[in-house]
Amino acid sequence: MTYHIRVPATTANLGPGFDALGLALKLYNEFRIETIESGIEMLGCDDIPLGENLIYTTIQRLFHEYHHEKYGVRVISHKIDIPLSRGLGSSAACIAAGIVIANRAMGERLGLEDMIRIGTELEGHPDNIVPALVGGMVASIHEGDQVIYTRISIPQSLCFALMIPEFTVSTGEARKVLPDHYSKKDCIFNISRTALLVAAMQNGELEKLRVATGDRIHQPYRMGLIPGLEAIFQKAQALGSKTEVISGSGSTLMAMIERNNIRFEDEMNDFLSAMEGGWYVKILEHDQEGIQIYE
Ligand code: HSE
Repeated sequence: MTYHIRVPATTANLGPGFDALGLALKLYNEFRIETIESGIEMLGCDDIPLGENLIYTTIQRLFHEYHHEKYGVRVISHKIDIPLSRGLGSSAACIAAGIVIANRAMGERLGLEDMIRIGTELEGHPDNIVPALVGGMVASIHEGDQVIYTRISIPQSLCFALMIPEFTVSTGEARKVLPDHYSKKDCIFNISRTALLVAAMQNGELEKLRVATGDRIHQPYRMGLIPGLEAIFQKAQALGSKTEVISGSGSTLMAMIERNNIRFEDEMNDFLSAMEGGWYVKILEHDQEGIQIYE
């Protein structure tokens, strides 16, 4: 049996929705999967040791947990477009792919809710893994052994400019720079903006996105990890972006722009090429489908 899997990149937080909001983007990793007699084989990702390959470790873990020994899988990397450690959900994409591959080998014994719960446990937070699995923009919470999520509609006229540098930021490091406690004022600042952001997205109120993406929980502490951030945010705003945020824990920066903003890509690329850091821009639509299996 042979089939293919396509898994989207995701951007998390969207400003104030730390560990809660995320959305899937039309940027994909694709794999071809073959059934083999036993074991797990990985082809085409030789630069990552097996023990650190999240697709491999996820499949291995699920096979072990569910005592699956019937037959194995060969995973062949076909297209890897999601850059590693840049805040575009490459880990969540690998975990999502691993879960779906293992589940198919085990005769689809896990439902979507189980896959979401397992993925969230492996990733530690739901904001990338849920949209990687279900697509769209999603608000999620992880409570006890349950993940509860809901879809948020995205205005038709909105698309996403990702400014991606050469340098990486590890999520672990970017979480270490955050404080353990926040003031009541900062909590209220983020809660009110997260609520406003969700409603503004649903209602298509693009002019409210800038104030609604204000954040005092993570971005102020992470700015120092991303040299060039302020200049890029300023340039994006000058080019008509509706707002700018750090994508996940960085290093990628994201501007929300109108689809008809046709000068943004070229002018931002010109600007970025004069900067240090090997930056480039990618304009992406949101993905509505999440991970897909096709024959
Ligand atoms: N919410 C997570 C963080 C996303 O910001 O640490 C990591 O991609």
